[in-house]
Amino acid sequence: MTVLVFLDPAHDDGRIVDASQPQLLATDLGATRGDGIFESLLAVDGSPRKEQAHLTRLASSAAALDLPVPDAEAWSRAIRTGLREFAAAEPERRDAVVKLIATRGAEGAGRATAWVQVAPVPASTIEQRRTGLRVLFLERGYDSTVAQRAPWLLLGAKTLSYAVNMAAIRYAKAHGADDVIFTSSDGKVLEGPTSTVLLAHDRDGRKTLLTPQLESGILAGTSQSALFTAAKEQGWELGYGPLEPHDLLDADAVWLISSIRLLAPVLSLDGQDLRSSAALTAELTDLVDRFV
Ligand SMILES: Cc1ncc(COP(=O)(O)O)c(C=O)c1O
Repeated sequence: MTVLVFLDPAHDDGRIVDASQPQLLATDLGATRGDGIFESLLAVDGSPRKEQAHLTRLASSAAALDLPVPDAEAWSRAIRTGLREFAAAEPERRDAVVKLIATRGAEGAGRATAWVQVAPVPASTIEQRRTGLRVLFLERGYDSTVAQRAPWLLLGAKTLSYAVNMAAIRYAKAHGADDVIFTSSDGKVLEGPTSTVLLAHDRDGRKTLLTPQLESGILAGTSQSALFTAAKEQGWELGYGPLEPHDLLDADAVWLISSIRLLAPVLSLDGQDLRSSAALTAELTDLVDRFV
């Protein structure tokens, strides 16, 4: 069951449409050029998680693309409409994926097309939290300083142009792995196609969480950020890259983290088994549960 709610100035709470019927014009620039932005957030028991962080990131992606999008209140109202409709149709499901999508609109219209989609969380996504991931390093082809020099690459924005990210995951699957960590042409660890990289050290009673630095052209992860806030309160030390592949191989544990799959342990990198820690994963999963 998928619920769609279009943001429409004539409908304060959004306009519910039939997800099994065509709703976009074929000239929509989101469809013809991938010219648009999106967010994916988790809802539990009808309530969106980290909503403000996702709306803030949506606004910063929109600014990067110079894309006029509806304001945060309009998105919030449409999210609530979508979740209400979803709960009525699927009362047994506690979790849902909420996608916020905005495109540059139909050619010549000069107005964004924006909608909210609510759908079940795929079972395979939940399963990966438990089973963990075999990961390949794949080159992204940019160096880690290009984001500042070339803002038109939109590297820190969550754009609809995810065909490359999806192709990377298909490449990993075709080569016996589950997911990907991108590296820069100057050898730095970047991010997964749909996730942020995290590693931990647990040495002499001092626990440290590390993640690549944002300046390397990665998306600012809302889950990593919320986890860092919770971990800091528990006395963890925090750090931001630059990280290189050997840092992941030397870590006490490595995870990919994102809003829907949450925390998934990385089992191996390029076929090389990693150290893992059920205790650290359990401790961090507890912290993730606080904001989920
Ligand atoms: C490229 C990329 N990096 C990181 C993330 C993780 O972000 P979040 O934790 O906000 O879901 C995502 C999420 O989809 C992503 O697409």
